[in-house]
Parts: sequence; structure tokens; C-alpha cells
Amino acid sequence: MTLLSPKIDRIIENNPTFRTYVFKHHLSAKPGQFIMLWLPEVDEIPISIGWQEEDEFHLGIAKVGDFTEALFKNVKVGDRLGIRGPFGKPFDLKDSKKIMLIGGGSGTPPMLSLAQKAKKKGIETTVVLGARTKELLLYENKFKELDCDLHVATNDGSKGHKGYCTDIVEEKLKTHEIDCIYTCGPELMMYKIAEIAKENNIECQVSLERFMKCGFGICGQCCIDGTGLRVCKDGPVFDSKIALQHQEFGKYRRTASGIKENL
Ligand SMILES: Cc1cc2nc3c(=O)[nH]c(=O)nc-3n(C[C@H](O)[C@H](O)[C@H](O)COP(=O)(O)OP(=O)(O)OC[C@H]3O[C@@H](n4cnc5c(N)ncnc54)[C@H](O)[C@@H]3O)c2cc1C
Ligand code: FES
Repeated sequence: MTLLSPKIDRIIENNPTFRTYVFKHHLSAKPGQFIMLWLPEVDEIPISIGWQEEDEFHLGIAKVGDFTEALFKNVKVGDRLGIRGPFGKPFDLKDSKKIMLIGGGSGTPPMLSLAQKAKKKGIETTVVLGARTKELLLYENKFKELDCDLHVATNDGSKGHKGYCTDIVEEKLKTHEIDCIYTCGPELMMYKIAEIAKENNIECQVSLERFMKCGFGICGQCCIDGTGLRVCKDGPVFDSKIALQHQEFGKYRRTASGIKENL
């Protein structure tokens, strides 16, 4: 584990509720891994590693509650943030030749990092992004820069397919041979994708989010009912066949104090 306090080099406002924080620092992380981000006197939260270059890494963050509101309001370019990690089991590209990546909302950054790695390995990469409106679609330009076969879905039809990204996935699988599907986003979306993968007999990996405290497997906060696996250490990336054995996958999660919360 590394402890860092890198300076923020740039802040990109992707939309009013999502920003990308850019750090000029080499982070030896694999796509799907996450770091614990510390804001002194506020809290510490898990965030996935997004775009990475030799001397740079990006964290894409959605404003949803106390920590992220404080981050958006008080933290500026040149400030330092506390970082522990990288943690967790990454995505596994195996020996795939053709893959499909599906990103929804704040689950898009790890898909971008995976697309970078896949492209370096010469893997044919189809990307499907979903959002409520076109303004909320993330990193389209970055995926285009990587020359991915990009498809988008918006709930209101303001861009691409009107509806869910799972509609595109089902349609594509009728004509495209895919070795493995990778997804990160809202859990109900990932659950549907895991079921589609099962029906089509395709390998699939999903990245789960659960409340985290230690981030490296010792506190037990992120254990999943049914399998007892820890999301921070045995995941966050799980083979979808294992995820479908988690009693709570696609159904509920637990708050910081362990109370069940329906999805
Ligand atoms: C492995 C992993 C990777 C993640 N990657 C990203 C990312 O790349 N970008 C992004 O925007 N978000 C990501 N998240 C979600 C992010 O951690 C939460 O949105 C954030 O913690 C919200 O904090 P808050 O105080 O602003 O909001 P709150 O109002 O406290 O919470 C809003 C939501 O975030 C969840 N949350 C709060 N604290 C934690 C915590 N310590 N651990 C897990 N969940 C928490 C709550 O359960 C709730 O559902 C990731 C979560 C996990 C587990
Ligand atoms: S967060 Fe402590 S075991 Fe996972």
C-alpha cells in the first residue's frame, strides 16, 4: 500500500455534478482498482482510478453527499489530497480478442482505464455508455481518442439510443461475437448485464460498490451476504457468476452502520 498526498494539477468540470481531478503522479494501478481518498476533517471515501498515463492519473468524482460536496466546494487546483492504495482486485482481460465495456454514470472512469489497457493490447473494444441525458454522458471524447466502437444510450433520447444501455448490449450480442463483457455502474444495470451474459453464455466481470472503511480487508464492513466475500479485497471486480451468488447483488446494500438499504 502506498500513502500519497499529490497536488491537484487540473480540475475538469465534466458537468455540474461530475468533475475529474488530475494528479501529476505515477500511480501503479490496474484498471478496476480503487484508492481511499482522504479530505482532512471531512472523511475518507473509495474512488476508482480512471485515465492513467506514465506521469498522471485521473479521479472522476460525482457530487452526491457530504464528502463530495465539500470536495467540490473547498478544494482547488494546487491543493493536496490524501490517498491510500491502490486496493482491490482489478479487471482481468484474460486472452480476449473482442470485448464489450459498459459504463453507467460514475462507473465510467474504470471503464476508461480498462479501455486504455485493452487498446494497448490490441483488443477490439466496443463501449456502451448510459446516462439520463446527453449532458451526463462521460468521457465520450476519451473513448473516441482510443478508437473504441462507441455507442450511447440516454433515458430521454437526447443522444444515441433512447432507453437503457442494456438495450444496446442485447442488440449488439445478436450480431457481434464478444469474448468478455466488463461493466461498472448502477447495480441494477450490472445485474441485468450479468443476466444477459448468463443467457448468452458470455464471460462477464462486474465492479461492485459497498460501504468501505479500511479498504483492504480487515474491518469486515464490506462483506457480502451469501458468499461472505469482501468487496474491497476479494472485489470490487467479481466474475458475474460469483456476483449472481451474492444474496444481495441487485437487491440491497448496507449503510455504514450495517442497516439494509434496498437498491
Ligand atoms: C470501490 C468503489 C469505487 C468507487 N469509485 C467511484 C468513482 O470513481 N467515482 C465516484 O464518483 N464514486 C465512486 N464510488 C462511490 C463513492 O465512494 C461514493 O459516492 C462516496 O463515498 C459518496 O460520499 P459522500 O459523502 O459525498 O456521499 P454520502 O451522502 O455519504 O453517500 C452517498 C452514497 O455513497 C455511499 N458512500 C458513502 N461513503 C462511502 C464509503 N466510505 N464507501 C462506500 N460508499 C460510500 C453511500 O452508501 C451512499 O449510497 C466508489 C465506491 C466504491 C465502493
Ligand atoms: S472495507 Fe474493511 S474489510 Fe472491506
